[in-house]
Amino acid sequence: MDIFQVIRDRRSIRKYKDIPVEREKIEQILDAARLAPSWKNMQCWRFLVLTEADMRTKVLEAIPDDNPGKKAIAMAPVVVVVCGNPDESDIENGIDYFIADVAIAFEHFCLAAHALGLGTCWMGWYDEGRIKQTLCIPDNIRIVGITPLGYPDQEPKPRPRKQLSEIAYFNQWPQ
Ligand SMILES: Cc1cc2nc3c(=O)[nH]c(=O)nc-3n(C[C@H](O)[C@H](O)[C@H](O)COP(=O)(O)O)c2cc1C
Repeated sequence: MDIFQVIRDRRSIRKYKDIPVEREKIEQILDAARLAPSWKNMQCWRFLVLTEADMRTKVLEAIPDDNPGKKAIAMAPVVVVVCGNPDESDIENGIDYFIADVAIAFEHFCLAAHALGLGTCWMGWYDEGRIKQTLCIPDNIRIVGITPLGYPDQEPKPRPRKQLSEIAYFNQWPQ
C-alpha cells in the first residue's frame, strides 16, 4: 500500500474480530516503531505487548467506563501499552521531548498496523498509576498511550479535519 493511502485510510478502530494476531505481524509492526526518529537517537520508547487475556483485563480495569475506546480494549486480542523513559530524552524550551519521541514511534506503529490490515486506536484517557502498578511498570517510566491491536470489525467513516489553509502558512504567520 502506498504511504499516502495508508495515512489517508487509517482510522481509530473500536470494534475487533475475535481472531488472534500473528506473532510475525506484531513483530513487523513493532519493528516499524523501532525505526522512528528520536531526540539524539536515544530511542526512549518501550512497548509492553499484552496477548494474555488476564493481562489485558488489568488495563481494561484502569479505563473509565465513558472512554469510547474501552470496549475496544475488551474486544481486541492484543493490547499494547506504549511507554517512554524520560531519562532517555530531554527537555528543551520547556518541551518534554520524550512525549514527542514516543508519539512518533506510536504513529509508526499505527500506520504499519493499518498497512497489514490491522486496526489500532490511540488511547490517552486511563489511570496511569493503576496500569503501572498492576503491570509492574517501573516508577521512572511513563505511559504515553495504549492501543488495542487486532483485525477490524468496522469501517469507520473519516473524522473531519481542518482545511490546510487553517493549519499551514507559507512565509508569514497570519496577522
Ligand atoms: C493523544 C490521543 C489520545 C486519544 N485518546 C483516546 C481515548 O482515550 N479514547 C478513544 O476512544 N480515542 C482516543 N483517541 C482517538 C481520537 O479520538 C481519534 O484519533 C480522533 O477522533 C480522529 O479519528 P481517527 O483516528 O479515526 O482519524 C486519542 C487520540 C490521540 C491522538
